[in-house]
Amino acid sequence: MNPFAPVPSTPLLGVNIDHVATLRNARGGRFPDPLDAAQAALRGGADIITFHLREDRRHIRDDDVERLRTQCAAPLNFEAAVTDEMLACIERVRPPMVCLVPERRQELTTEGGLDVAGHVERVRAACARLAAAGCRVSLFIEPGAAQIDAAAAAGAPCVELHTGAYANAVDAADAELAARELQRLRDALARAHALGLQTHAGHGLTLASTATVAALPGIAELHIGHALIGHALAVGIEQSVRDFKAVIARARRDG
Ligand code: PXP
Repeated sequence: MNPFAPVPSTPLLGVNIDHVATLRNARGGRFPDPLDAAQAALRGGADIITFHLREDRRHIRDDDVERLRTQCAAPLNFEAAVTDEMLACIERVRPPMVCLVPERRQELTTEGGLDVAGHVERVRAACARLAAAGCRVSLFIEPGAAQIDAAAAAGAPCVELHTGAYANAVDAADAELAARELQRLRDALARAHALGLQTHAGHGLTLASTATVAALPGIAELHIGHALIGHALAVGIEQSVRDFKAVIARARRDG
């Protein structure tokens, strides 16, 4: 798959396998193996395999990255913080796709987006360095004007809009807040597209919130982990991927 290909009419699904590594690490040893999960996700129709190598290696570890690189047939989307260690690691691995994310040690998951507006020069240098390594770079940002404008100024070809606030409002059955957050995503998409940015979305998406987000015009990729792996506990990974893909396809058809 060419990561620089034109925007597909149906959003591609990136399956985040971090949570499989979290479960493995809870007991040490090798089981369950995130590489097996990636291969099952591919059999179910995943388009991209996404993982986050955190500074503290709390889930995905360096040897997982190496095994994914050499044994996983899918395009890899490498999520990482903007640090020298991670940029050097990405240059070694050379994944087709990179998503730069914020990282705080104490957080349970990636909270909030990357503050590109506050660090444009640093992010611009990272984008240039990764582009020189042949990686397509995406910036994981809050769906707001300042961050979108900064992402364009930093020279990133793509942004991934943080859908956490919208997904949480849907989970909490707060219809008013969900409507406001969905509008924020719509406005962000329009602004990103006007600036020529390819636009992705992710974080906290369940089957229900995926349906709405996938229907937004021009979303090229969705990156989903926790709810998809959670659903897999009941139906298996292949079927879970099929269920999410079906929701995405239906949203585009009916949306
Ligand atoms: N996109 C990015 C950039 C992320 O950091 C994460 C979480 O690691 C996700 C998507 C997936 O979020 P979730 O596991 O809540 O589906």
